[in-house]
Amino acid sequence: MVPVDCSYQVTVMCGIIGFTGDGKALEVLLKGLRRLEYRGYDSSGLALLTADGIRVVKRVGSVENLEREASSLRDVKSSVGIAHTRWATHGGVSDRNAHPHTSCDGRVAIVHNGIIENFEELRAELEERGHVFSSETDSEVIAHLLEEELRRRPDDPRGALTSVVRRLKGSFAFIAISTWTSDAILGARYNSPLVVGMGKGFSIPASDVLSFLEWTDDAIFLENESCAIVRPGSVESWLITGEDLDLKVAKVAIEVSEVEKRGYVHHTLKEIHDQRVTVQRTLTQDLGPLEEAAKLLRGASRVFLVAAGTSYHAALVGRHVLAELADVDAQPVLASEYALASRWVNGDSVVVAISQSGETADVLEAVRDAKSKGAKVIGVVNMPGSSLERLSDVHINIRAGPEIGVAATKSFTSQVIALVRLACAVSGREVTLDAEELGRCVEEVLEQEPQIAEIAKDLKDSKDIYLVGRGVHFPIALEGALKVKELAYVHAEGLPAGELKHGTLALIEKGTPVIVLNPSDETYVDTLSNCQELKARGATVIGISDRHHPSYDFFVRVPRTSSKFASVLLEVIPLQLLAYYMALERGAEIDRPRNLAKSVTVK
Ligand code: AGP
Repeated sequence: MVPVDCSYQVTVMCGIIGFTGDGKALEVLLKGLRRLEYRGYDSSGLALLTADGIRVVKRVGSVENLEREASSLRDVKSSVGIAHTRWATHGGVSDRNAHPHTSCDGRVAIVHNGIIENFEELRAELEERGHVFSSETDSEVIAHLLEEELRRRPDDPRGALTSVVRRLKGSFAFIAISTWTSDAILGARYNSPLVVGMGKGFSIPASDVLSFLEWTDDAIFLENESCAIVRPGSVESWLITGEDLDLKVAKVAIEVSEVEKRGYVHHTLKEIHDQRVTVQRTLTQDLGPLEEAAKLLRGASRVFLVAAGTSYHAALVGRHVLAELADVDAQPVLASEYALASRWVNGDSVVVAISQSGETADVLEAVRDAKSKGAKVIGVVNMPGSSLERLSDVHINIRAGPEIGVAATKSFTSQVIALVRLACAVSGREVTLDAEELGRCVEEVLEQEPQIAEIAKDLKDSKDIYLVGRGVHFPIALEGALKVKELAYVHAEGLPAGELKHGTLALIEKGTPVIVLNPSDETYVDTLSNCQELKARGATVIGISDRHHPSYDFFVRVPRTSSKFASVLLEVIPLQLLAYYMALERGAEIDRPRNLAKSVTVK
């Protein structure tokens, strides 16, 4: 019996994909795993249903590693299979903890994304009944529970699956194959995404639409708290409580080409450059029911902007945008700190939840709480069919296209533009951002890429980097600091320029790099005097402004535009590039930074 390690393996933020239909399951699964790599992972595996039963290959390391290990299966005939990229949180990483996990008799294999909170009691119960576990994961209990239920009722897979799911507590999405269910793939989701790509004669259940776009853009987004039996070209689904569900097939509005690197070395660099186009797209395209969202905001007694990470920085900009363009007092709330704000949320509140993935657990939890109190929820999303989109009363899509790099870049600038458009919809103002001008200005900033790459060489070995800005530029300082940390693994701190004298100035020594966001707007003079204070203490000052000044040791020119919020957008691009080139110089991972995942689907 494998001792249960108390620091048990939790499988979270993983990628799952299955295939059933005519064709070779192995090819689809391996290509699908490649598409899921961007989510971040430390091991991968697959299981095929063959004439001789279920064959499993799983390994720590890259999908490339798995492809080598699975080469022996290339000639095995199989049209049903499941696969997984795993991102563990607690404890080490090992082959035996990689997914898929199988039942004692090897007749069931499962892959899982999420957390089974009651797995220890389930495991003890199963071991009592003689089950032998081969891993330390929470997920493995699903395989053994399914084994018992399918053995008990091999002709009633729906009943077997429902009774297993009703035993599980936590957040999960899993799919399973078994020798009892031939070409059917069993699946269930509870607060974790599961979507099925639908093709002629085949179906591809997955955690992420990007994994099956190569084969189909028709998708069924399974309801939360539901089960499903996926067969070639068809899906049967029902709520865990038993009610049947009518399923709708939706078109996924994402081109496969948008997911390719298209000649760039990294997705992250491509997505920084994509902003030439995405800012204009978000500015001009239909984002969804803006007017409906605006109406909710006009009628709200309190407005909360709930988000995490980069999206929270967009929320901080959103506070300025909504105040200045719509006279709305919106309170930004870090999703993980929502509990305090929750006490003020009621039926007259509106929560604007901002999330690129639409799957961030803290954001979803806050949204569920807000809805339970009668508040209306406006989702500001990017990925179609996300949990946040489905939970929102109204959602607007920022149209930034799929963002593969774990570090958010184009989604941030599109989030800010979407908030500008929302604010203008509230107040009935014209959106003064001009698409042509914005595209040209983005281009102008990107043309300084070589100089920025040079500055990165000077900064790459810094121990600490400080970024300062005033007013609406302060959130940009925070966003720049986050980019430097997550891409280059260099400590960076963003702070309001006005706070320097209140303590941080004590840390400034000769050569300490400080990036100063110093556009010639109402913050210019005060921030310039901060520059001089910094210079007087020996700091190396990197000025980001439309106007050069002798106080700057390095300077990146960000053109002035007709709108204050466009300038804010433009300022973030040099910071994205700086972080990217520092990471390049330091040989960091870039698209998949260590320890991070694209979507934080657990608390
Ligand atoms: C930002 O570069 C990070 N990838 C991370 O902070 C991210 O913004 C955060 O996890 C929120 O993600 P979301 O927008 O998908 O909710």
